Formats: sequence, structure tokens, C-alpha cells
Amino acid sequence: MIADFPLAEEQRFIWESAARFARDRVAPDAAKRDREHRFPFDLVSELAQLGLLGVKVQVEDGGSGADMTSYVLAISEISRACASTAVTMAVSNLVADILSRFASLDQKQRWLEPFLAGRMGPASFALSEPSSGSDAAALQMTAVRDGDAWVLNGSKQWITNGTHASFHLLFARVVDGPGPHPPGSKGITCFVVERGAKGLDAGTEERKMGLRSSNTAQLHLTDVRVPAVNVVGEVGKGYAIALSGLDTGRIGIAAQALGIMEAALAEGVRYAKERKAFGKALAEQQATQFAIADSRTDLEQSWLLTLRAAADRDRGAERTAKASSMAKLFSTEACGRVVDRMLQIHGGYGYVEDYPIERLYRDARVTRIYEGTSEVQRIVIARELLAG
Ligand code: CAA
Repeated sequence: MIADFPLAEEQRFIWESAARFARDRVAPDAAKRDREHRFPFDLVSELAQLGLLGVKVQVEDGGSGADMTSYVLAISEISRACASTAVTMAVSNLVADILSRFASLDQKQRWLEPFLAGRMGPASFALSEPSSGSDAAALQMTAVRDGDAWVLNGSKQWITNGTHASFHLLFARVVDGPGPHPPGSKGITCFVVERGAKGLDAGTEERKMGLRSSNTAQLHLTDVRVPAVNVVGEVGKGYAIALSGLDTGRIGIAAQALGIMEAALAEGVRYAKERKAFGKALAEQQATQFAIADSRTDLEQSWLLTLRAAADRDRGAERTAKASSMAKLFSTEACGRVVDRMLQIHGGYGYVEDYPIERLYRDARVTRIYEGTSEVQRIVIARELLAG
């Protein structure tokens, strides 16, 4: 975080609680969980107890009722300790944010409140498909009405928490019958699909380069019957729900990158002070000093853009697409530069598992891909700048 940045008492409280939890509970086994590809079930329940699965959700809906700035501070601390746990938390907050804004009272009582209380385990946000990632509106999963239910068919790809989710917020296109169907956002609808639904198969877990203790899986749906009461928001209005959710979600991923950068920089500085070459510590050599100076500058710029996007939301802005995308674009690209420089300071030791920078380097990479690639963020920013 930026030294002496003015924070309200509640923001500081949430920040410090998250930092304590990250240090005492999340960090100690992070490397081991990563090596074992082990999902942190226990930490997910504890995050719920701390109110960190629905930081921004109002208290009446079971959330913490805090602001976006508090969320940024909390997720950056969890990410500094373990970026895998941070993405699990980020997707949980994305799902909780959408339900709190778009779900009916009944739906909130059925899914949101028990989820936030830690009685359900994780949840997923299922938008991407094998043939549509960046072009999310091209999704092919269909929903056909049959009596008081919808029948869903198709596959989802890259679903964080996919194997373990107790329910999925899943986006499908409402159609009259079998395809082909016109592309575009028309008809896309948001459904809650519960674990155990007949015809729902969570495929095998992906073996990823990084974030190895987070869970990513495909979902296959074959004639899955979903009660009509499981539609979140209006039929046909799901795409705007997804993009609106991503407006806040992308600030969370920017904050995840902040945590990775904080950790990488601390590792680089520590190593640079310990290691000697050419008769003096690396930290006394100008090449190292420049790498550290550039990295701290990258980090503080990322903080400013991310806090600014969060502040826009906290002031009540309903749409923060440009600010959210600028925060995610800059922070995640900066994160790539920082982990690379800090690994370089470590030399060969940075390339082996014995040093934490190796995991940080692997974990950083996907932040430039998920919740919209850097290229998608540029599209969103440019569209808004050039509109009108
Ligand atoms: N908030 C609310 N509504 C919005 C919106 C926003 N930010 N942005 C657009 N909309 C609405 C528009 O007003 C429009 O509504 P109408 O049809 O009523 O006019 C509708 O949504 C469609 O808008 P566009 O035509 O502008 O949408 P598009 O299809 O051209 O968008 C895109 C293009 C910006 C590239 C978009 O497809 C996109 O963001 N793609 C990336 C998808 C993505 O981020 N996926 C991440 C998967 S989730 C994930 O990664 C989570 C994880 O596991 C970590």
C-alpha cells in the first residue's frame, strides 16, 4: 500500500484483519498447497466467517456492508500471501456482488445468505465457453423453456471453483429450439445452477501454470432442467449483468495483482540485501537499484489507479467500466514487469521452487488473461473514450 494513504477507520480495520488472517492462516502453507494442487476448503470457510466473501454486500443480505476500497485492501493482502486463495475469494465476491444487486429476495435467502455465512462452500461465475472467451456474447450454451423449467445444454470453460462450487451463476442463451442461433448478446440470461443438478458434469480439473491451489474446470450440461425461479434478473438481460459484475470483478483482479507485486518486491529487496556479487550486496549495485525503483513506481501507480476505480464505485457510480479496465490493465501488466525484474535479481535461484518468487512469477501471468485479457480492457477503455 502507499504509505500514509488516507483511510477511513472501517477501511483500516478490514485491511488489518485481512492482513492478520493472510499472515497467520493463508501464508504458512501457501507454497505447499501450490505444490500439492490442494484447494483451500478450510480457508474458504474462514474467509466467510471474516465476512470476506461478500465484502461489499449489504449487511441485510448477509455481507459486510463495507466499500470497494476495503475490498481492494483485503484482497491485496490475501493475494500477497497466496494468489490462489485470492482468486477463489475474488470470484466469490463477484458472485455475491451480482446476487446482491440482481437477485430477488427469495433467491438471496436461498443462495446468497447461506453462501456468505460459509454454509455452502464456494460458488462459480460461468460465462466463458470453449469457443468464446473474449467474445463473451458469442456464447453457445442454450436454454429452452419447458413448462416451469429451462433446459440447458452446452459447455463452460475455465470456470474458477468449477469442481467445488455449490452453485454456479451461469450464462446461457434463451432460444426457441435447436440452433444455429445468431450471435450477439440478445437472449443471454443468468441462471443459478446448483451442484448435483442431473446432467451437470464438472469435468476434470485443469493443470495450470500458476494458481495451482485454485480450482479451474470445465462444466458440461446435458439437458439440465433448471427451475424458472432460478433466473437471476430478467430473461434476456443476463449479458449486461455479467458485464456489470465484471466492472467490479476487474477491480478485484487489479487488487490481486497489487498483492502479488507487494510480495515480489519484498522478496526481491530481501534477496538483494543478502546476496553479494563483485564484492558487494546486489542492493548496492545500480542495476538492482533501478529494478527496485522501477518496480516500486509501477506498484504505486497501480495502487493509485485501483484505488481511484474503487473510489468511483464508492461514490455511487453504477458503471465504472473505463476506470475498472484501466486499473486492471495497468496493474496486471505492471505485475508482469515486477515479477520478472524480481526474478532476474534472484538469478538462477529465482527459477527454482526453493524461493517464493518462482510461484509469484507463475501466479502473475493469468491476471493479464482472466476477467478480460489486457486486449479486452483496451477495447473497453477505447470504446468509452471514442463514444459519442
Ligand atoms: N455494465 C452494464 N451493462 C453493460 C456494460 C457494463 N459495463 N457494458 C456493456 N453493457 C451492456 C450494453 O449496454 C449492451 O446492452 P443493450 O444490449 O441493452 O444495449 C450490452 O451490454 C452489450 O454491450 P456491447 O455490445 O458493448 O457488448 P460487447 O459484446 O460488444 O462487449 C467486450 C465486448 C467488452 C469485449 C465483452 O465481450 C467483454 O468484456 N469480454 C470479455 C469477457 C470476460 O471478461 N470474461 C471473463 C470471464 S470471467 C473470469 O475470468 C472469472 C474468473 O474465473 C477469474
